[in-house]
Amino acid sequence: MATATDRALFQKKWQSMELTLYALPYSYAGLIFTHPIKIVGKYGELMFRETTIKDLHTSPVKMIADDWALLTAGDRTHFNTMTVSWGGVGELWGREVAFVFVRPQRYTYEFMEDSETFTLSFFGGAYKQALGVCGSQSGRDIDKCKETGLEPLPVDGGVTYQQAKTVFVCKKIAFQDLDPQGFLDASIMDTYALRDYHRMYVGAIEKVLVAE
Ligand SMILES: Cc1cc2nc3c(=O)[nH]c(=O)nc-3n(C[C@H](O)[C@H](O)[C@H](O)COP(=O)(O)O)c2cc1C
Repeated sequence: MATATDRALFQKKWQSMELTLYALPYSYAGLIFTHPIKIVGKYGELMFRETTIKDLHTSPVKMIADDWALLTAGDRTHFNTMTVSWGGVGELWGREVAFVFVRPQRYTYEFMEDSETFTLSFFGGAYKQALGVCGSQSGRDIDKCKETGLEPLPVDGGVTYQQAKTVFVCKKIAFQDLDPQGFLDASIMDTYALRDYHRMYVGAIEKVLVAE
């Protein structure tokens, strides 16, 4: 359930407004009438609503592999983000989980190590140019938000982006470094010329948000 704080965060000045005006009274057949005029309005828009992983209509494989995602760790004052297209969603240890793979030289790796939570933000194939920037340059060298126009949005101690279509808020519950001894297909080693084996992080999916 979204908390009151969440609702405040996710509502972009959303207000439902109901205003009843009364026209000047008039009389008919000795009786006095007024016509109530009801105006129902809404300004701004609700940004996200909460759903469950099982209610998502898009294939998680497409979401990650084709459309890419932003992996973000850190808090609203100090965070970093990078593009990921490897990872997955499933069930593990009786929980719904997302898992991501991060090479140790990524700046985001430092934030993943220091954070208890991370977010995966999906943009449905839009903002690929922005995700290209986040996936080719390091937060050590540029301000990715400034460079791409992506607007950070704090959520549950972590950070996502206002432009995201779907967000998984994950609690880091395990990590494991890939061990090349377990690579049964020799071609996997082609990915690791630098022997920079990914660290896999498993996150329990605590919240799934979809843009309204
Ligand atoms: C489409 C795409 C997918 C990527 N997927 C991953 C990934 O799954 N794991 C990873 O470690 N790096 C991945 N990268 C590379 C990082 O996003 C990239 O090195 C980024 O600049 C790291 O930024 P940082 O140093 O600010 O963390 C991907 C890059 C692109 C463009």
